[in-house]
Amino acid sequence: MAKSKIALIGGGNIGGTLAHLAALKEFGDIVIFDIVEGLPQGKALDLAQSGPIEGFDGVFKGTQDYKDIAGADVVIVTAGVARKPGMSRDDLLEINVKVMRAVGEGIKAHAPDAFVICITNPLDVMVWALREITGLPHHKVVGMAGVLDSARFRLFLAQEFDVSVEDVTAFVLGGHGDTMAPLIRYSTVAGIPVPDLIKMGWSSQEKIDAIVQRTRDGGAEIVKLLKNGSAFYAPASAAIEMADSYLKDKKRVLPAAAHLTGQYGVNDLYVGVPVVIGAGGVERVVEVQLADDEKAMFDKSVDAVRGLVDAVKSIDPDIG
Ligand code: APR
Repeated sequence: MAKSKIALIGGGNIGGTLAHLAALKEFGDIVIFDIVEGLPQGKALDLAQSGPIEGFDGVFKGTQDYKDIAGADVVIVTAGVARKPGMSRDDLLEINVKVMRAVGEGIKAHAPDAFVICITNPLDVMVWALREITGLPHHKVVGMAGVLDSARFRLFLAQEFDVSVEDVTAFVLGGHGDTMAPLIRYSTVAGIPVPDLIKMGWSSQEKIDAIVQRTRDGGAEIVKLLKNGSAFYAPASAAIEMADSYLKDKKRVLPAAAHLTGQYGVNDLYVGVPVVIGAGGVERVVEVQLADDEKAMFDKSVDAVRGLVDAVKSIDPDIG
């Protein structure tokens, strides 16, 4: 079987963690691209040196040249600036849209057949911009947000119920972070929906509401603690789960920022929805019936993403 090639654009905190996880999972050869001279080269060498201990082979390359990503099966984008305390994801907009321009052109020229996973924030609009710049098919460009948001939600629910995180499933829709819309009735412990667990006395509506809010603020909580960076372990794990589903054609049903063409009443926008990820990329968007309050939450989230898309169009008029 031919070895896969994974290109990581951005070799910072998330990029380095992605490289390590991809190596441990033996995804294939790994290229780390970063504009900082020496940084991706140093990380690639360090990673290669963990191979004899961990028992993985493969080529690790750090580079400042987009030519090195040629033939990549998966490209994961974390290039850009991470949030500093007090900075919202949207403050990042102007800086990171310029980064997406450079990255998108690099991917378009050298890895147009890749499955591209964007992590750079503000996520829903960055993945939209990246798709526009690359011109890749929409189903081959996706944003990582929902797996992370739902992992946070699952953790907090598991702690509240005192059960294993493995038995908690969560269903989240909408934009990343502040406007995330969790669907409580589709979030379960071993198949038992959260509203039933409240009726069973496992928790209260107030406590679940507080957990929802903590999940929405999950990124900011970590930024505040770290003081000069944002979360990187869980975001990296989340993107690796998506890449794994693509590379192994697992057809996992995962929440992701996907391009909508009428589903949920949204057209030509990237928003977080459940999707099936397999060898075809985003093979399907899963559309469920929303109750009125859920639809209102989702629409609010969509409006926020739409506002950012308009802002990006004014920053870079060639996009869209
Ligand atoms: N091309 C390639 N790499 C770039 C570019 C560019 N044009 N601009 C910046 N970078 C690199 C930086 O040099 C840095 O190494 O992107 C890397 C970002 O790494 P970190 O600052 O450590 O940020 P990280 O925690 O990895 O988060 C990256 O993901 O979750 C989001 O909000 C987060 O947008 C941020 C991104």
